[in-house]
Amino acid sequence: MKLPIKSLLKTVVLLLFVLILFSCAYLGFHGHSMKLHPDIHSGVSADHECLDCHHPDKEPQGPPTPHPGFSGCIKCHND
Ligand code: HEC
Ligand code: HEC
Repeated sequence: MKLPIKSLLKTVVLLLFVLILFSCAYLGFHGHSMKLHPDIHSGVSADHECLDCHHPDKEPQGPPTPHPGFSGCIKCHND
């Protein structure tokens, strides 16, 4: 019996590729977590609240955000 080595190899390579892609996306697209400073950030959830303190044009209290136009800050900065 011939083992389908080739298709097995293809599957493994594909899986690895997808895994690498995902971990890069994860590391690359997640910003620093606001949970590093829970005292400042507790109870904040709306984008406009974040921008009150982080908009680069408003004398930011924290580090200015490099992307004030983004929405859904929490998606990327909450873990
Ligand atoms: C698509 C994901 C994503 C979204 C949405 C997003 N950010 Fe970011 N943010 C990042 C990444 C990636 C960085 C760069 C890595 C870092 O410095 O944390 C960053 C950096 C920052 C920094 C600088 C952090 C530092 O330590 O200097 C601030 C402040 C910030 N973002 C605030 C915001 C605010 C406010 C919003 C909503 C208006 C927002 N982000 C939306 C991904 C995102
Ligand atoms: C009351 C003002 C205020 C609000 C509102 C606020 N922040 Fe911050 N944020 C700060 C300050 C001040 C720092 C810097 C703390 C420090 O470095 O000691 C900070 C730090 C950060 C950092 C950098 C963390 C690090 O150490 O790398 C990120 C990312 C961040 N905030 C995201 C957000 C997001 C997302 C929101 C909205 C959900 C938000 N902040 C709302 C004041 C605020």
